[in-house]
Amino acid sequence: MKKLFSLIVLLIVVSQSLKADEGMWLPALISQRIGDMQAKGFKLTAEDIYSINKASLKDAVVLFGSGCTGELVSDQGLLFTNHHCGYGYIQRHSSVEHDYLRDGFWAMNSSEELPNNGLTVSFLEYMEDVTDKVLSGYNSSMNEKQRDSLIKVNSNRLTKQAIAKGKGLNANVEALFYGNQYFLFVFKVFRDVRLVGAPPSSIGKFGGDTDNWMWPRHTGDFSIFRIYADKNNEPAAYSKDNVPYKPKKFFKISRSGIKEGDFTFVYGCPGSTKEYVTSDEVSYIANISDPKKIALRSQRLDIQKKYMSKDQAVRIQYSSKNASVANAWKKWQGEEKGIKKMKTIDSKKEYEKRFKEWALGNRYNGVLEKLEKLYAEIKPYFFAYEYYTETIRTIELLQLASNVATSLKNKRGVETVVENFFKDYYQPIDEEIFVAMVNSFNNNIDEEFKPQFLKDKLSEYGSVEKWKDNLFSNSLFINKEKVLTLKEKDLDVVLKDPAYEMFEAFQSWYNETLRPTINRLNSEIRVAYRDYMQGQMDFEKNKQFYPDANLTLRVAYGNIKGYSPADAIYYKPISTLKGIIEKDNPDIFDYNIPQKLRDIYAKGGYEEQPVCFLATNHTTGGNSGSPVLDANGNLIGINFDRVWEGTMSDIVYDPEICRNISLDVRYVLFNIEHIGGAGYLLKEMVFAD
Ligand code: ARG
Ligand code: GLU
Repeated sequence: MKKLFSLIVLLIVVSQSLKADEGMWLPALISQRIGDMQAKGFKLTAEDIYSINKASLKDAVVLFGSGCTGELVSDQGLLFTNHHCGYGYIQRHSSVEHDYLRDGFWAMNSSEELPNNGLTVSFLEYMEDVTDKVLSGYNSSMNEKQRDSLIKVNSNRLTKQAIAKGKGLNANVEALFYGNQYFLFVFKVFRDVRLVGAPPSSIGKFGGDTDNWMWPRHTGDFSIFRIYADKNNEPAAYSKDNVPYKPKKFFKISRSGIKEGDFTFVYGCPGSTKEYVTSDEVSYIANISDPKKIALRSQRLDIQKKYMSKDQAVRIQYSSKNASVANAWKKWQGEEKGIKKMKTIDSKKEYEKRFKEWALGNRYNGVLEKLEKLYAEIKPYFFAYEYYTETIRTIELLQLASNVATSLKNKRGVETVVENFFKDYYQPIDEEIFVAMVNSFNNNIDEEFKPQFLKDKLSEYGSVEKWKDNLFSNSLFINKEKVLTLKEKDLDVVLKDPAYEMFEAFQSWYNETLRPTINRLNSEIRVAYRDYMQGQMDFEKNKQFYPDANLTLRVAYGNIKGYSPADAIYYKPISTLKGIIEKDNPDIFDYNIPQKLRDIYAKGGYEEQPVCFLATNHTTGGNSGSPVLDANGNLIGINFDRVWEGTMSDIVYDPEICRNISLDVRYVLFNIEHIGGAGYLLKEMVFAD
């Protein structure tokens, strides 16, 4: 009997640990996981990760801008993040004379560091469960509207109180578990953040979109900034007199090397996941939404690529646009495939069947049936909405028309909008995309959903092609000089322009026929999910749940590990400089490395220089730039991607195949020293070994 009991215990432990790399945990509640973390090799305590009484690792992590993570690496406010997170800022400092994107940028002393208007970094001061305070005054006779406004009032009071306590503070109340729990997050926001260094794109974006979401990977995806503060070490707007910020904590850097199996954890700000949705939603994503968006983007990418390969200038103009279209396009392919491979729809259905049986006798009875009904109702509307955003909204000329109209309505000049637009605009691409996207829309949206405007235009011109010819020859927006002369008094002309007219017709169609229904159903779905989420937690009393990602600070832990993407292939988890040299090809833009790197390699001794590594940490978009730490909390890498075969982890995590991709911090140091010639920066870092 005793034996049987220990066997059962063992089985439970094993089955839990099999899935155990899944999860993005709230640092303030990490004590619930610390036993498991320590069992897997972590050497520190929960207080070391998050504490409000002493400096802890959380004080070395920042939300970088509004969608990435960064980490402090010196007592002088020095910060690492990804190259793709700093990209926009590096680009803004670039010109033909100083092309920092192409050539890299290295400040050789603090006076050469470049300020970045609008860039902020936010340190989490503390997080606190405020569920009771947020719901104070609530009683069950209130309807949802009353509940929402009560939550708003209570949250505003809480954030105001929190902000009043110090300089540069910002606070949000975030709903977790679909509003079953509320947490207050209080940040200190620094606004003087300067660019210190960035490798050339041929290193920082090495492999480009060809290698994006892929392994083996060799991208040196990092950039370096420094946070400045006023004389009292408090946040301040940019000023020459500001001084480097002295953080409460910064990461020591480990150079002693990593190997498969080592414990790692990622401390950062994952943006969005949907781990607890119903089989209907997963089915919509994998069977409808992803495939149709992938197909539409394939068309756009093909059109862009056709022109980009013919003309160097067009390639430069469209490289960033093409990259952003391609990024989600590739991710969705992995997501769709992963969900199908894991049979997530079936397993969710099976789970829902058991849930329904269990719910028969309790207050969750009917919640799944309600969600099923709501999904059936919202599906055609949401499909039309997504189709609209992936087709009509991608026609660049219509966006220009709308932006110019907005500027004029707001009595602002149009110059910046127009200059930025035409710098990267190639009309033949837009014309071809117009035809392809309008045709797709027309062929795939049900007759009853189509805007009357579309039907009218098609009967007026006979074909999308002819409509396009007419629009592009009659719109004033194809003529940069003309658009530049537009003033407030010309608003009438703009509103009558065929490009604006089309933008406006579709926008009104969306606002009038789709939006009200989508909003109404979405708020009902939200309420039903609140119940279903609580139901899942009651149904599986022994399971520890982590809230879906929402850009708040989280800890994910796991270990360094390769994977097998397909039969007979096994990917080792560590890539090296040797692999960069193998990929190097001066004729292929994505693989053309700087001559300096070739020369260094040729001298010998750097074959084994580590570049990137794989681990089982559960991450998502927003985790870019996150510190990747070893068992002692020392920095071993910077997170920047996942493998595409594992991108379904936003919905369902598979420990066999979900891997995050990190840059080895030793390759960062290598670049600072040998490519940037900025070895002086290493002097302010602290090495653990
Ligand atoms: N896939 C990474 C992420 O989701 C890197 C993106 C960088 N952009 C690119 N198109 N290569 O954000
Ligand atoms: N590159 C992503 C980012 O910008 C991280 C990749 C992912 O895990 O989605 O946050």
